[in-house]
Amino acid sequence: PQGTRLGEGGELLFAGAPVSHLAARFGTPAYLLDEEQVRNTARAYRRALPEADVAFASKALCTRAVLRWVAEEGLSLDTCSAGEIAVARAVGFPAERILLHGNAKTPEDLKAALQYGVGRIVLDSLDEVEQLGALAHGAQRVLIRVTPGVSGDTHAAITTGTEGQKFGFSLRPDVRDNVDRAVAAVLSQPSLQLTGLHCHIGSQVSRVDRYEEAARKMVEVLVRIRDQYGITLRDLDLGGGHAVPYADREASFDLDGYARRLRVALGYECSSQDFPLPRLTIEPGRAIVGPAGITVYRVCAVKRGARTFVAVDGGMSDNPRPALYGARYTARLVGRRTKAARTPMTVVGRHCESGDVLADVCLPDDIHVGDLLAVPCTGAYHHSLASNYNLVGRPPLVGVRDGHATLLVRRETEEDLLRRC
Ligand code: LLP
Repeated sequence: PQGTRLGEGGELLFAGAPVSHLAARFGTPAYLLDEEQVRNTARAYRRALPEADVAFASKALCTRAVLRWVAEEGLSLDTCSAGEIAVARAVGFPAERILLHGNAKTPEDLKAALQYGVGRIVLDSLDEVEQLGALAHGAQRVLIRVTPGVSGDTHAAITTGTEGQKFGFSLRPDVRDNVDRAVAAVLSQPSLQLTGLHCHIGSQVSRVDRYEEAARKMVEVLVRIRDQYGITLRDLDLGGGHAVPYADREASFDLDGYARRLRVALGYECSSQDFPLPRLTIEPGRAIVGPAGITVYRVCAVKRGARTFVAVDGGMSDNPRPALYGARYTARLVGRRTKAARTPMTVVGRHCESGDVLADVCLPDDIHVGDLLAVPCTGAYHHSLASNYNLVGRPPLVGVRDGHATLLVRRETEEDLLRRC
């Protein structure tokens, strides 16, 4: 991963700190996060699209420290629950820079958002328009989430821009919850102020042409709404979903190409539209934190049968992504040097399912109990997707900067687990 480099003696330096020292100090498994890399990526986004409001999707990784870093880097924040708003609130994240999302926001989510005074709420059903209309005072700024009918070409479970999945208002005139009804419903609520549209075509999307297609579709909808309702909506939020490379040879996201295509599609570069330039928002989550994290495991057993299995002290409770999305990872031996030949092995977790697989990789033949393995690119949707399956405590999250480590989230203890069962 970026931000790490191989030091002497087979030692992996992570943000300047030897991984084996971090493993000894914080135990394993542990999530490590490179603060400088998170900040640099945030800056790269702002540089690539200076005209856009870049909102970090906190579902990827929501802790006080991370929200503080992205706030300091000038990002906005995409939240999707009262819980995420509570963390934002705890660090004083500027409320006007927060968005609330969700297809089933509870009254508690909506109340938390209104109480803190979040800048924008993204509406996702006619029922929600009514509920928020009744709860809001003043003029709560809202966006309407549109299903643009554009596929992100990604795993079905994280495809969100096409008809037949649960998110957004349809562009089809023949269904009840469609965009036109949503506009009319919002306009009839005196407590809501409609400022724009939102779409999110999916996650782990590497095709920048699909974003261009979505942007063009959304401009068409903005123009149609202006012509039909006589209102010019200025906010256009194109969501997140930018892919990161998990395994070797996986394509990374072409951020500059993406920025270029969006500018053209929205008229920033050659103003072909008779529509004012939208105020653009984007919502990357994974791309900001994913590559900045690694997970360190200790080998518990090496079983040599029809296949060689390297079993580690974590697994699907700290990384359910292979089981959920067929995600592929690499793993490497860290902390010692070896000349042993490398052969194909399967790194598996400690959980009671044969689907608990972390990676198929080539590892040194002399790998043994007690060795450390590092899995790169685990900064997004690992800590946030972690569970207590088999009553295993969730790993700590350790922030590292200039060789200096800080415990950001402590390991869950047996006491923590017993308190709830
Ligand atoms: N905006 C909205 C409205 C979203 O629903 C999401 C992600 C994002 C932005 C950020 O997407 P990102 O840039 O992080 O891809 N657990 C899955 C990912 C689920 C994403 C859900 N929504 C995974 O581990 O791949």
